[in-house]
This record gives sequence, structure tokens and C-alpha cells, in this order.
Amino acid sequence: MAQVISEWEVRAAASSGFLMVPEGALVTPLAREVARDLGIKLGSRPRVERRKFVFGNWKMNLSLDAAVWLLQSLAGAPELRSCRAGIGVFPSYPYLVLAKALLEGSCIGLGAQDLHQEKEGAFTGEVSGSMLESLCQYVLVGHSERRRYRDETSDLVWKKAKVALAHGLTAVVCVGESARDREGNRTSVVLREQLAGVSAAVASGEAQRLIVAYEPIWAIGTGRRAGRSEIELAHGQIRGLLRSALGDVGDEIPILYGGSVQPDSCAELAASVSIDGFLVGGASLDEDSFVGIAMAFRETNG
Ligand code: PGA
Repeated sequence: MAQVISEWEVRAAASSGFLMVPEGALVTPLAREVARDLGIKLGSRPRVERRKFVFGNWKMNLSLDAAVWLLQSLAGAPELRSCRAGIGVFPSYPYLVLAKALLEGSCIGLGAQDLHQEKEGAFTGEVSGSMLESLCQYVLVGHSERRRYRDETSDLVWKKAKVALAHGLTAVVCVGESARDREGNRTSVVLREQLAGVSAAVASGEAQRLIVAYEPIWAIGTGRRAGRSEIELAHGQIRGLLRSALGDVGDEIPILYGGSVQPDSCAELAASVSIDGFLVGGASLDEDSFVGIAMAFRETNG
């Protein structure tokens, strides 16, 4: 008699996002439905090993002197060299040229906090993809603070992501629900809306330069980090949306967590196969805490 895969086996695979289905096994319709809802891939091939990242979003913080000091300290931190995650810092625009020079030869990448969707022209105060491409590897797009204070819509966010990718940058697209959406059980609806533009924005061959950061708004800067199972559930939904939009390549896109990440609890989160790293705000402004967070991915962790 053929082996039967039930919804319970699928649920038990939630934290890994993948369930190996042996040749000839039968998957019940309910199990398929649960797998779809939770973004769990059912397959006969082993899971893809995704790249890991730890990013520091400095936001509108640090004086020039403090920024130089932090950049020099991070560039010289020996612990970061033994980290299997890609490390990146995202200072404000005026510091990027200097940051590039100070990080030269280190293992730390550089990112910008935003870019404009147009190529060039009369857009006072804005910065284009071509200005950033020679300075940075990464750019944040659609951070909730820009969605909130600059009225950025998901449509605009994906336009920006498209421009970033076309300029050879890695686009770190931020998504996440508000407290009110979470209380109203609307998290999956919000994530679906925020990710709807992905297939139109990402040309074939560019998905390797896309990273998604799940940052629930209620957890940002509040000291109230989401729990591991809450993060895994949301990451599973995001994975399912990426897979249905982009096919198998959707499995390779790293999904980071952001929102009150602190060094003490990171190792537990980094152990989850559905959490590919962190986007860190407040704690990235302090060398010890940022290095402590990155150490959740130290080589010896396996
Ligand atoms: P936080 O910010 O770590 O201070 O909560 C995260 C972010 O906004 O990227």
C-alpha cells in the first residue's frame, strides 16, 4: 500500500518550508491545501541551501564622526570574517562615498536606504540607481517608514525594485503588516498585496539579486520582536507567494526577518531554515550588538 502524506506531516514541516515526498506516496487534498497555505514545498528533490545575510539599517542616525568610527570598527572586527552570512550596512546617502572607502578590503557590503524610480532629471533631493551602482551592492526598497511617511505604494516599491535590479544592485524589498492588520487576521492578505508586483518587476536572471525582508510594523523599534513561529508562518506565506510568482527560483530568494532584533535571541532564529538572516535597525548602531547578531551565523554554527 502506498504511503499517505497527511496534513499533520505537512504542518510538522512548517519550520523547514519543505517536505520530502517519497516516490509513489499519496498526498491528501487537505495536505496539499495546508502546504499551499503555509508555503511548504512538497518535493522529491532536497531543499535549496539559501544565502544568509545580516544587514544594518542605520536610518537617519549617527553624526559623521560616529559613522566613521562605527564603519572603521566593523571593518576591523575579526569576528565578522568568520561569519557565513553576507554582512551589509546601510548608512544615509551623504556617508556612502566615505563608507565605500572605509569598507574597502573588508568583508562588509554597502547599501543605500532608498532610490528613485526615474533615471535622472528634475527630482530635487532624490538619488538614482545609476548614482548608486558604483557605490553600493544593496538598496532597501519599500521600508515601512517610507510606505508610511512618504506614502509609497506597493506599485511604486516594485518600480523602484525593478530599477535597482536593472542597475545591478541587490534589491532588499521590505514587507510586513501593521498591528491593526495582524489583529484583524489580515497578515496574509497584506503580504499578498505587497508581493503582487514581484513577477512583473523581476526579469529572468535577476531573481538572484532579490532579497525580501519581512518586517512586521508592530515589531519595528518597539522592543517587541515577533516570535519564531510567527516569523516562520509569515516567511512560509512569503515563500509560497514567491514560488507561485517566480516558480522554482522563488525558493532561492532569501527571506530576512526585521523588527527589534537583538543579539540575545538571534541564534534561535538563525537555526530556523525559513529565516535567512536579519535586517537590523537600532541594534546595528552599536558595534557589539551588530557583531553579536551576525555571530548567530558564525561558521561553526554549521
Ligand atoms: P529595529 O528596526 O531593529 O530598530 O526594530 C528594523 C528596521 O526598521 O529595519
